[in-house]
Amino acid sequence: MKIAVLVSGGGTNLQAIIDKIADGTITNTEIALVIANNQGAFALERAAKAGIPAECISPKNFASRDEFNVALTNRLVESGVDLIVLAGFLVNIPPMMVEKFPNKIINIHPSLIPSFCGKGFYGLHVHEGVLARGVKVTGATVHFVDDGTDTGPIILQKAVNVEQGDDPKTLQLRVMEQAEWNILPQAIDMIANGKVSVVDGHVIIE
Ligand code: GRF
Repeated sequence: MKIAVLVSGGGTNLQAIIDKIADGTITNTEIALVIANNQGAFALERAAKAGIPAECISPKNFASRDEFNVALTNRLVESGVDLIVLAGFLVNIPPMMVEKFPNKIINIHPSLIPSFCGKGFYGLHVHEGVLARGVKVTGATVHFVDDGTDTGPIILQKAVNVEQGDDPKTLQLRVMEQAEWNILPQAIDMIANGKVSVVDGHVIIE
């Protein structure tokens, strides 16, 4: 299975995928392309170091958001990938892309959806919300991307304890280490091996 990984920042989730393909945890999978929405994303350096074709497609380089959406979608269609992985990608996915890749785009969100997700809940803001509400358990979710924000069928989730004295950064790192960097590679491997299907909006795992 050929995948494209879309990134915006540090690329630790991309690195987890790279490492788990290398150690055989993820099978049947090749990262064909990495796309960042900004040139400064450290994820691009991680891709280069791993010898993976990587490029920047940024809204800033287009006259309108529509033109960006068309360019991004066309690049993915022409790449021939079977699955698109949003790994810390902070750009809204346009309906035209969801249409071209139905249940073929997955996203990692750093909370137990439907909690602490949707508009404004990304990156550290998620963990700020968790701490403000005082929940004792949080975690991460891998889901298929549909036309909404963090609303598609859920594939995997993993719970993580909130510890006394946590701040958003310590909590984000624990959620990454204990959940994100495990369930995103796991979901990719399951999809690559035909173990995941969607029936009536719910994910069935064989
Ligand atoms: C992380 O908080 C992740 O949960 C979210 O994007 C942030 C950056 O991830 N999806 P990465 O280090 O760029 O993979």
